[in-house]
Amino acid sequence: MFDVHCHILPGIDDGSKSVTMSLEMLRLEAEQGIEGIVFTPHFYASQNSPETFLSRREQALKELEGSLGLLASVPRFTVGSEVHYFRGMSRSDSLESLCIGNSNFILIEMPFREWQPVFVDEIEEISTVHGLKVIIAHIERYFNQDKKLVKRIIENPDLLIQCNAEFFIEKKTSSKAIKFLKKGRVDLLGSDSHNLDDRRPNLAEALAIIERHDKKGALDHINRMSRTVFEQAR
Ligand SMILES: [Fe+2]
Repeated sequence: MFDVHCHILPGIDDGSKSVTMSLEMLRLEAEQGIEGIVFTPHFYASQNSPETFLSRREQALKELEGSLGLLASVPRFTVGSEVHYFRGMSRSDSLESLCIGNSNFILIEMPFREWQPVFVDEIEEISTVHGLKVIIAHIERYFNQDKKLVKRIIENPDLLIQCNAEFFIEKKTSSKAIKFLKKGRVDLLGSDSHNLDDRRPNLAEALAIIERHDKKGALDHINRMSRTVFEQAR
């Protein structure tokens, strides 16, 4: 299994605070049998230019790579970003540089404020005009948004849907997560892990729950999709 969304790179966002923490997070991922990881630090257009972000990301990756020898085994990894929605993003020339590795998959975090139709218009344009394959990060966090707009995303076959492990693990959302999984619209999973405390790598726990309920090959689909993202990233 692959973790396509996490904040394991050290010192770049509100995720891992140090190389030591990143190494322990990676150790947990390996222990859980995770085969590949996409490092997806937050990109906020209001805080950094893409160039600054990319050079900070490269620096963080270098620091981590310098210490990987300390681990007995390391999952495969590639870098991407979690691009927070910004107005006008569908006209930005920088989107390609924020994609996952060399692929044209881009992980986008929608706004948490009340959605306007233009938000979804722009996301759809990114896919039709730029030809990028948009992955909507943790869709479950938006289930309280305008139902029609959420439906537009879920029913658009050009958009990929990522869910967080937590959606399946948390008691209050687990049955909703299984119901959503059964609709066949979960394309990718992520731990969205940030630390070693309340947001630690936890994909294996979610996978065990999914395996118990999956009768229609949802997990095979997720595995196939993750593999495709990973292979195209190289
Ligand atoms: Fe995230």
